[in-house]
Amino acid sequence: MANLSDNLLIWYKNNKRNLPWRRKKDLNNPYFIWLSEIMLQQTTVNTVVNYYKKFTNKWPTIKKLSKAKLDDVLFIWQGLGYYNRAINLHKCAKIICAKYNGEFPNSTKVLSSLPGIGKYTANAISSIAFDKKTIGIDVNVNRVISRVFNIDINDKKSIKTSSLKVLPEKNCGDFMQAIMDLGSTICKKSKIKCEICPIIKYCEFTKLKEKKYSYNLEKKKIQKKFLYIYLIEWQNKILFRKRKNTKLLNGFMEIPESDWYNSKFTSNKAKNMAPLKLDWSIVPGILKYKISNYKLEIRFLRGEIKKNFNIKYGRWIEKNRIKFLPLTTLTKKILHHLSLV
Ligand code: ADE
Repeated sequence: MANLSDNLLIWYKNNKRNLPWRRKKDLNNPYFIWLSEIMLQQTTVNTVVNYYKKFTNKWPTIKKLSKAKLDDVLFIWQGLGYYNRAINLHKCAKIICAKYNGEFPNSTKVLSSLPGIGKYTANAISSIAFDKKTIGIDVNVNRVISRVFNIDINDKKSIKTSSLKVLPEKNCGDFMQAIMDLGSTICKKSKIKCEICPIIKYCEFTKLKEKKYSYNLEKKKIQKKFLYIYLIEWQNKILFRKRKNTKLLNGFMEIPESDWYNSKFTSNKAKNMAPLKLDWSIVPGILKYKISNYKLEIRFLRGEIKKNFNIKYGRWIEKNRIKFLPLTTLTKKILHHLSLV
């Protein structure tokens, strides 16, 4: 008799989304699966598709990626966000080439010891690339399993146990991706389409009068932050620096900025904190930008250097060379505000 996983696998065969990392040649290659899974962390499928194609065209093997310059990796990654992923990806490629002769380890435990590979990603790679009997639980899988078995959506342990119970003997990678597709096209957060669900007969959620488990996930707390940007000019050049040792956006070139504060502060305070003593003027306008769980409110100061002197940190960049730097979306918006791109 067909069971839940049989029904789901048949549905997946006929309805799966056409995604580049699901092509036959990509599926058998752990490098491609790893890359897609890292890109898909915190980013939607639609956004990832083009980046994935660009990236795999440029670096078709892990060996090639391991020899790439980090700046080039960041250049291709720009706009995809959560840039520590790119830094860890590059680090991980180097380790796999140096320590494992360019072959991905197939143990979930060893995989999760590598940079950028957490529990979810290790399980996803194991099941998709190595057909191990395991499953990575992302938000879609979490929601579908919690509904099917009527488990509280925050009860991660029970959700994992129940999802392992319904795994098929083979094709666990397809099974996992089938649940992901089901979650993003049918068993969605809202506007659920139970009437076309291939596993409705196994589902507890449809029987409930009070469908309370679908919207209970804790929301990330958004924090408001205030900062100033220091535009420093000398002749036809702008001073950039490389972000280092920060929680966000390491490795990218940026225009110097003040610390981030929880409340609005004056331009005089910002001038006192500036990296150089200059005759600062206010650039009109405020830039508002959401990144990760921060809502930023950014103000601008401009200062000009009359004579060059030794700058301890940073690099002078000609205005017409700015477009060749690896820049985050935020820095591009800042440059746009300053009419520099
Ligand atoms: N999200 C994370 N991994 C995925 C995959 N392999 N297919 C579709 N969505 C995903």
